Amino acid sequence: MGRATAAAMIPGLALLWALLQGGAALSTPRLRLSFQELQARHGLRTFRLERTCCYEALLLDEEHGRLFVGAENHVVSLSLDNISKRAKKLAWPAPVEWREECNWAGKDIGTECMNFIKLLHIYNHTHLLACGTGAFHPTCAFVEVGHRLEEPVLRLALGSLEDGKGKSPYDPRHRAASVLVGEELYSGVAADLMGRDFTIFRSLGQRPSVRTEPHDSRWLNEPKFIKVFWIPESENPDDDKIYFFFRELAVEAAPALGRLSLSRVGQICRNDVGGQRSLVNKWTTFLKARLVCSVPGIEGDTYFDHLQDVFLLPSKDRQSPLLYTVFSTSSSIFQGSAVCVYSMSDVRRAFLGPFAHKEGPMHQWVPYQGRVPYPRPGMCPSKTFGTFSSTKDFPDDVIQFARNHPLMYNSVLPMGGRPLFLQVSSGYTFTQIVVDRVAAADGHYDVLFIGTDTGTVLKVISVPKGSRPNSEGLLLEELQVFEDSAVVTSMQISSKRHQLYVASKSAVAQISLHRCASHGRACAECCLARDPYCAWDGATCTRFQSSAKRRFRRQDIRNGDPSTLCSGDSSRPKLLEQKVFGVEGGSTFLECEPRSLQAHVNWTFQRVGEAARTQVPVEGRTEHTAQGLLLRRLRRQDSGVYQCAAVEQGFSQPLRRVALHVLNAAQAERLARVEETMPAAPPGPKLWYRDFLQLVEPGGGGGHGGAHSLRMCRPLSASRPQPPEPQRKGRNRRTHVPEQRAERGPRSAAHW
Ligand SMILES: *[C@@H]1O[C@H](CO)[C@@H](O)[C@H](O)[C@H]1NC(C)=O
Ligand SMILES: *[C@@H]1O[C@H](CO)[C@@H](O)[C@H](O)[C@H]1NC(C)=O
Ligand SMILES: *[C@@H]1O[C@H](CO)[C@@H](O)[C@H](O)[C@H]1NC(C)=O
Repeated sequence: MGRATAAAMIPGLALLWALLQGGAALSTPRLRLSFQELQARHGLRTFRLERTCCYEALLLDEEHGRLFVGAENHVVSLSLDNISKRAKKLAWPAPVEWREECNWAGKDIGTECMNFIKLLHIYNHTHLLACGTGAFHPTCAFVEVGHRLEEPVLRLALGSLEDGKGKSPYDPRHRAASVLVGEELYSGVAADLMGRDFTIFRSLGQRPSVRTEPHDSRWLNEPKFIKVFWIPESENPDDDKIYFFFRELAVEAAPALGRLSLSRVGQICRNDVGGQRSLVNKWTTFLKARLVCSVPGIEGDTYFDHLQDVFLLPSKDRQSPLLYTVFSTSSSIFQGSAVCVYSMSDVRRAFLGPFAHKEGPMHQWVPYQGRVPYPRPGMCPSKTFGTFSSTKDFPDDVIQFARNHPLMYNSVLPMGGRPLFLQVSSGYTFTQIVVDRVAAADGHYDVLFIGTDTGTVLKVISVPKGSRPNSEGLLLEELQVFEDSAVVTSMQISSKRHQLYVASKSAVAQISLHRCASHGRACAECCLARDPYCAWDGATCTRFQSSAKRRFRRQDIRNGDPSTLCSGDSSRPKLLEQKVFGVEGGSTFLECEPRSLQAHVNWTFQRVGEAARTQVPVEGRTEHTAQGLLLRRLRRQDSGVYQCAAVEQGFSQPLRRVALHVLNAAQAERLARVEETMPAAPPGPKLWYRDFLQLVEPGGGGGHGGAHSLRMCRPLSASRPQPPEPQRKGRNRRTHVPEQRAERGPRSAAHW
């Protein structure tokens, strides 16, 4: 079926088909690490309070080494170095009267009528500003936290409780998006109990409160606020702007499309104090533009319209941070998520472009062609661009134009014109993102940590593709940071401490940004991993520090090509030959599981007495599985050396050598008798392996000096003997040496 026909039938599917054809639809992580593995070997730490849910607000206090957490009825102070260490808790429940009122209003007393802490900001050296839902009665307070981590203070400042309307949402299901600039709080929330009056609101501080025009769908149309940032526009603080990221129902969409939700970036000037005669205490500099994250296609674009999170990656230039965002699809046809990156210059360009205009209800949205009044709406009153010193001085035509034209005609497109990374039909949705810029041997790389709705974190690196600024995302790791598959609700990153903090409904987790040793024990594995945090130091895969002048630091993030970097590297763990026995007509299983999920396995075979090495065919008697090679109905001529290699990026790395001996019936019978003389299953390591080994191999104690692993030859359905202990530990099964062998020494054995 051609793409054109598919498009004619179901557009959405045709686009999915185009995505799949592009090969960009679903990536497999190189490493997938379970919760248990992360906890046991990679220092995953968790925190939870008893009978407390909804860890949603995370606040990093790098200077004092603290992580503040807002949850149901609690504010908690944790150590950034180890969140499992003793926590300081502040219980802050909603008063009984409010809970009863909330219950009378038809809300659930046990799950909704609680004080869910939604917002935490550092207010000054000694206090936090905290706001919660207060059982549908939003409330804010200052929380005294003291100067130092060790100080035993964490309490509500006396008399500081105040109305949190317009700061915290009422409904625990809603998010709070806000930024504290100086003493002023800029927030995007629903400011009423029914959740219908949405506002972008400035409160606290000395100046009068300013908000958006209420109940005007051109300004805000059932928005869901995601993030708010304060970004300077020039050296002059009078030009500073506050940017709001949200999604809302599109006013500009054709009615045929129904309730179409789109993503937006909105701006206001920090020094906006509202109009003099109209728009009194309302924003006069509010503008918004559509944020597009889509994959271009011949039949049309595939849109990811549901903005989920925004991370602002600072750059040397304070005015031009990069905006890393995650989106999901709002389509019912297919489920997908994408990362799109925007530059501030593209955002500003949209606000300097044409205004969207609609002449009347029966007209189309068009770019406004008429005269735009001066000063151009959206510009801040400042000496940089004009002579106005306050928005109250703006002429009436400016105020009128601003009220009627909040929407820009042009959209903001992502850098490179397409998503940096996307996953389609992966079974999860991206919900959160944080980014770290890392100095590697061959330049700077952005490492993305993406939280999902299934309790996992994806680690993705952005590498240049073709000519800059085009980049593509490579999925390095998938980390199951929560025991359950809870939705990741919040993330914070500490580049300084190399730690990631992840919150969900059920817990908070802390994990290091790197796990270099988990990439493997060979130079090639370390190199193929393309992890900017890690490098090969000549003996192990370890943390890379660009400042450390070390000679043997091998790293190639851009190409991940071990053939040049690791050639002549003699430190590769020596491949030991293991012995496996099978019986004619029976089956045997040769284990080989590469660490990398992106590698595929190549089995080769060298028959006894032959020099030629051939590829093991994929045919009736052999079956290649993800865990190894299954050989059925064994024949004597299957005896020989089997070698398994992991092939990745065209680079082949031998993982395991197995010498298979296929025994005939008579030999097998002797084996059976040996087993009989060892009646009950011996405790501990299965000693009978060794005994049998010595039976079939006279003087078996010496010989190869290599590792032996004996595999029985019964049908697989019967209980297979387990391999000896050392081999079962961990995933790296390559080099196993039964330790007790040498102690017992050689023993005279029966001969065949
Ligand atoms: C973190 O703190 C907990 C509780 O004190 C302790 O059991 C654990 O070993 C610590 N972990 C690390 C990596 O320091
Ligand atoms: C911080 O703010 C709180 C609340 O306004 C105030 O009581 C306290 O004195 C302030 N502390 C400092 C060090 O300014
Ligand atoms: C598998 O290994 C054989 C022998 O080394 C080699 O000739 C062949 O190209 C390899 N196959 C793949 C797919 O790498």
